[in-house]
Amino acid sequence: MANNITFTMIKPDAVRANNIGPILSMMTEAGFRIKAMKYTHLNKDTAGKFYEVHKERPFYGELVDFMSSGPIVAAILEKDNAVEDFRKLIGSTNPAEADEGTIRKQYATSIGENAVHGSDSDENAKIEGDFFFNNLEVF
Ligand code: CMP
Repeated sequence: MANNITFTMIKPDAVRANNIGPILSMMTEAGFRIKAMKYTHLNKDTAGKFYEVHKERPFYGELVDFMSSGPIVAAILEKDNAVEDFRKLIGSTNPAEADEGTIRKQYATSIGENAVHGSDSDENAKIEGDFFFNNLEVF
């Protein structure tokens, strides 16, 4: 079943603010099971590759600088209807537009520094999970 996994990162802003614990709690309390998890630090090359789809966007350079500015937590999460339900849990990309009770409403500070990433499709969830984890690291 492809539609029961999504991929997330807790971004450098949320890690710096010491919010890994409360953000993970919001994910698990919402019913997501952790299938894979890693605390790591992207460099400009790996951050640039991960966000290659945004290469032509004006914010690409800023995004790569930010995502390589400190450690992140990367994870594969499992739940029925994972991609859609997770995007509801994290809220709008721009925290100013995020609903009450969402992770970005609570922990994000701007559209660029928005605390968490969530896959936008089943296809990208698989691609993004495979970017960080091999078969021996997914349970
Ligand atoms: P994410 O869900 O990780 O996917 C792409 C990221 O690009 C997005 O979250 C934002 O952090 C970032 N982003 C999107 N739009 C802008 C923008 N206008 N300015 C800066 N960063 C942006």
